Amino acid sequence: MMSSSLATVSYIGATILFILSLGGLSNPESSRRGNLYGMIGMTLAVLATVFGPRVSAAGLPWIIAAMLVGGSVGLYAARKVQMTQMPELVALMHSLVGLAACLVGFANYIDPMAALNLSSAEKAIHEIETYLGILIGAVTLSGSLVAFGKLSGKIGGKPVLLPGRHFLNLAGLLLVIVFGYQFLHAESVNAGMTALTVMTVIALLFGIHMVMAIGGADMPVVVSMLNSYSGWAAAATGFMLNNDLLIVTGALVGSSGAILSYIMCRAMNRNFFSVIAGGFGGGAPAKKSGDVAQPAGEVAPVSATETAELLRESKSVIIVPGYGMAVAQAQHTVNEITQLLREKGVNVRFGIHPVAGRMPGHMNVLLAEAKVPYDIVMEMDEINADFPDTDVAIVIGANDIVNPAAQEEPGSPIAGMPVLEVWKAKTSIVMKRSMASGYAGVDNPLFYKDNNRMLFGDAKKMLEEVLAALRG
Ligand code: TAP
Repeated sequence: MMSSSLATVSYIGATILFILSLGGLSNPESSRRGNLYGMIGMTLAVLATVFGPRVSAAGLPWIIAAMLVGGSVGLYAARKVQMTQMPELVALMHSLVGLAACLVGFANYIDPMAALNLSSAEKAIHEIETYLGILIGAVTLSGSLVAFGKLSGKIGGKPVLLPGRHFLNLAGLLLVIVFGYQFLHAESVNAGMTALTVMTVIALLFGIHMVMAIGGADMPVVVSMLNSYSGWAAAATGFMLNNDLLIVTGALVGSSGAILSYIMCRAMNRNFFSVIAGGFGGGAPAKKSGDVAQPAGEVAPVSATETAELLRESKSVIIVPGYGMAVAQAQHTVNEITQLLREKGVNVRFGIHPVAGRMPGHMNVLLAEAKVPYDIVMEMDEINADFPDTDVAIVIGANDIVNPAAQEEPGSPIAGMPVLEVWKAKTSIVMKRSMASGYAGVDNPLFYKDNNRMLFGDAKKMLEEVLAALRG
């Protein structure tokens, strides 16, 4: 068993590693190292806790058995999950953090040892921590489960807006305060448990209500917001358990999640508070390719050979990848085409929208995996002004992020969202399988523009044909 001072030193080491990890993750080139720091930090943290002074020898076998079960489930899930299902998995993980906060809170409250030797002021503080921890945990738990349902298409993406929903939320908040007062002044553990249970039910309902009111197009913000909540839930658990490392780690996750939510809102030109108030992003996610948008004009199809011809004749090409590239796993073929064109002297660059795909950094991860050089992968703001000087803009399985309706149609669910202005290139080519709409469920006027061509088919298959034509 570890001494208490060694455990503290390990915790400080783990904290530093977590901070280095976050720093590393801010740049694709250092992100592998960042992940490594995170993994070492977490191993250190778990070892220092399990073998630390607060775990008795009798409890150790139970903890190791639980870790084996949990670890196996995690390993299985991580191996089985498709890259495109990642956001759902992340939402599910957040719900587990919420559940853990609730369980720790209840266990802590009924544990007669937890508040032993505490002065009455310390006891009150401990109870406030418990109450708030369970509150945040329950909102995170139910909110994340609904987010999981929405992201996986098990629940519809349309916002569910109950009449008087702001009033309902306010009433819920007041009840939480009233029961909080009763909890703090409870005469017996039973009375305290009743107040705690009622509050938990209200918090669970609030979590469901909050996320149900948010439309499909705003889900990225919700996922990062729940990420932030899960951090605060972990920090609250840290307070309940008097565990400094959990408090610091939770605060790191909580604050970085909040910053990410802000960045996401800015990327989608949304006001954070309007998103949370709900009702935005009205379109249902177009989960099935059968969700065909209303035809709004003629489209000009193009073949893989003609696409190769256009690419070969260009001086400058911008590739805009989206969710469809992830579905088709076309990133390696994209890289081969990029290499070939660059060898022929074509200036090839990538334009990455901040919410392309289904999770933050989705496209960057895929392109890095395919070994596309980082210096030609540009963010939207860096490259948007260059489209007018571009010969071909090729859109690979992206839809909402290149939708001019965001600029041209004030009534559109994505109105105001910054988009990649591919239609300003001399020619734009959109690769997708059908005329189906994207995640936000809105029609895309880009497809009908005079300078746009549609290359229909699975992105990987079509790109392989383009590659073959380029080589031939
Ligand atoms: P989408 O607008 O969803 O469009 C993807 C397109 O890819 C679809 O229209 C689909 O058309 C096509 N596609 C699917 N499978 C394909 C395949 N195998 N081969 C070729 N094409 C394929 O994606 P986007 O442009 O990347 O925009 C992202 C959207 O997701 C935004 O609305 C964003 O708000 C939302 N969202 C983002 C996140 C984050 S954090 N990034 C999280 C949740 C939601 P076909 O069916 O016709 O092929």
